[in-house]
Amino acid sequence: MKSLKLRILTLLACALFLFQPFQVLAQQQLSEKEIDQKVNTLIKKMTLQEKVGQMTLFTSDMTVTGPTIRSDYEKLIKQGKVGALFNAYGADYTRKLQKLAVENSRLGIPLLYGYDVIHGFRTVFPIPLGEAASWDPSVAQKSAGVAARESAAAGLQWTFAPMVDIARDPRWGRIAEGAGEDTYLGEKMAAARVKGFQGNSLFATNTILACAKHYAAYGAAEGGRDYNTVNMSIRRLRDVYLPPFKAAKDAGVATYMTSFNELNGVPATGNKFLMNQVLHNEWNFNGFVVTDYTSIPEMIVHGFAKDETDAAYKAVEASVDMDMQSGLFLSELPKLIKEGKVSEQQINKAVARILRLKYKLGLLQDPYRYSDATRQKQEILSDENKQAARDVARKSIVLLKNENQLLPLDKNIKNLAVIGPLADDQEDLLGPWSGAGRGEDNISVLSGIKAKVSPETNITYVKGAEITGNSEEGFEEAKEAARKADVAVVVVGEARNMSGEAASRATLDLPGVQQDLLKAVHETGTPAVMVMMNGRPLTITWSDKYIPSILETWFLGTEGGNAIADVLFGDYNPGGKLPVTFPRHVGMVPYYYNHKNTGRPKAEGKYNSKYIDVKNTALYPFGYGLSYTTFSYDNLKLSKKSMSVDDSLQVSVDVENTGNRAGDEVVQLYIRDLVGSVTRPIEQLRGFKRLHFEPGETKTVHFTLNPDDLKFHDINMDYRVEPGQFKVFVGGNSKDVLQTGFEVTQ
Ligand code: GLC
Repeated sequence: MKSLKLRILTLLACALFLFQPFQVLAQQQLSEKEIDQKVNTLIKKMTLQEKVGQMTLFTSDMTVTGPTIRSDYEKLIKQGKVGALFNAYGADYTRKLQKLAVENSRLGIPLLYGYDVIHGFRTVFPIPLGEAASWDPSVAQKSAGVAARESAAAGLQWTFAPMVDIARDPRWGRIAEGAGEDTYLGEKMAAARVKGFQGNSLFATNTILACAKHYAAYGAAEGGRDYNTVNMSIRRLRDVYLPPFKAAKDAGVATYMTSFNELNGVPATGNKFLMNQVLHNEWNFNGFVVTDYTSIPEMIVHGFAKDETDAAYKAVEASVDMDMQSGLFLSELPKLIKEGKVSEQQINKAVARILRLKYKLGLLQDPYRYSDATRQKQEILSDENKQAARDVARKSIVLLKNENQLLPLDKNIKNLAVIGPLADDQEDLLGPWSGAGRGEDNISVLSGIKAKVSPETNITYVKGAEITGNSEEGFEEAKEAARKADVAVVVVGEARNMSGEAASRATLDLPGVQQDLLKAVHETGTPAVMVMMNGRPLTITWSDKYIPSILETWFLGTEGGNAIADVLFGDYNPGGKLPVTFPRHVGMVPYYYNHKNTGRPKAEGKYNSKYIDVKNTALYPFGYGLSYTTFSYDNLKLSKKSMSVDDSLQVSVDVENTGNRAGDEVVQLYIRDLVGSVTRPIEQLRGFKRLHFEPGETKTVHFTLNPDDLKFHDINMDYRVEPGQFKVFVGGNSKDVLQTGFEVTQ
């Protein structure tokens, strides 16, 4: 008996030993070469139907981000007709659906799970426009890294982010999802977010594929109306709108998403110039391109494709690899191949791009490695993630006004009124595209304030008004609360669904009667602090005139109330800067800082480029933001007064914290190319550094200007530096600057 036991134990030990390498193997990242070999071998086994199945992305409708078309996706998964699924998450649910693919379809190719993790998965961070206001790419990278960790623990391997669309029109609701109006800031934020999502290895189970969207120029929709026509010169496209997409590519972004809009008459989803010419031939992109939601059949509606077959043909001819939600690749490509209109070799290229990433993710080795209930429990809403969200939120807040240093408030304040429709609102802190975020997880401003002030502080909360509507019923109660208070904090702005997709606004005013609520509080004579929550610049000209202190807080996510309280009561000195210009009136739009000079630029006098009824300056300029301390700039120097076209020069400036409180300052460097073969903008951001200063501390801040900082597409569309005079501006925003100059010689 004993010897039998011994033999069994020995056999078990051998089996374990033999099995171990396989397990280790299953967890070992494959080399590029091994992946290519496996992809080619797998493609050879696949039927045409299975191939177009891999090119098909369906929604599970667990959450809805567009029209629901089908509910039989589980059957289609089993038939091997679905390569990827979106809007499905959770370790158990993704594991369940993955089993359908792996155990029922003929080749068992695992699904790829995608989702709109735009600014956080369950721990929600500030909207990207808010994160951009931090002017700190490391903040965006950190935020994306946390989002990836939470997503990858909940069964996801792919996010439809970063959105890198340049937006110069605040009427466009999706301005909330990007990094604002400037190309250079947009490039830095795009690269940072790609690195945050993808980390150093896609094989790691805490990183996910990123997706640069919406390719391209979606933010230039005429009238700021979502999905509307885009028409621009190729020069403007290449100099303003494409660079953030190129920055994403250079950062290694795994996928792109085509945009809904047409560009110069050709819908992006069928645009060979954007995809074949730029993305593949010029940029050598080797990941895959997915369409936006049903944007293939929408080419019929655009009037660019005559029917579904033609739409599928035009998409695949423009190197689209994956069809989101329409099912037209599934239904039409086999026909097109049989008719010889599309070659199977072309399909094989698309399938290879998709499978290569599935192998990189380790899905073929272990299809369930991302659906991990234990890791999900550890990661989701962890204290570490919430602390990260609070740090990022604080850095995203912009102090727009602070008359007589009303802020920061004293934590021992006796009587405080907290007023407004967003003061105790948890849901709207999520902002648009909030992933799996839930309102109940969020700290409201009122809760943040209650946690911050002394137990003796008497807080009176009055909602006072709704976000929309014209009822002033709550005004009396609000005024009463303000009268009894030493200070009134009034929290106003937009609802989260007033920005994001399909949420363009024709006005930029505070919605409803919120401005009247502010006036009512102002008339009590109690000093007021306006805390604004919004997804776009708002024309708050009255508040700028009458309200002593104004905080721009965007939609800050899970820790919003705590971050705002940190700033209100001085535990954090705000250092954010605007990533987008605030116009005085919606009639000025588009109104952006890096505009051309025109032949009549003066703001005064009659015959000049201006409005006769609105001041022709920004309410708050690009790059603007105050602090609880003050900074001075001095000693702007250049390492040389002239440089050749392939040279570089150093810029230095002394910045001093002239106040008695530590704080961050974003030192900004702009250039102006005075004369070109085509006209050049009056200024362009070409460097920025967010630095911390102790009281009285002076730092000499250094920048380098390289030829790439001076290049543009000249009259012949050659991308080059043109010799001539340049100006250099350095300051704490785009308007209050020191300036000097240099010359570029041939
Ligand atoms: C939406 C959006 C896009 C999103 C996709 C999937 O229509 O335009 O940004 O990633 O559909 O939800």
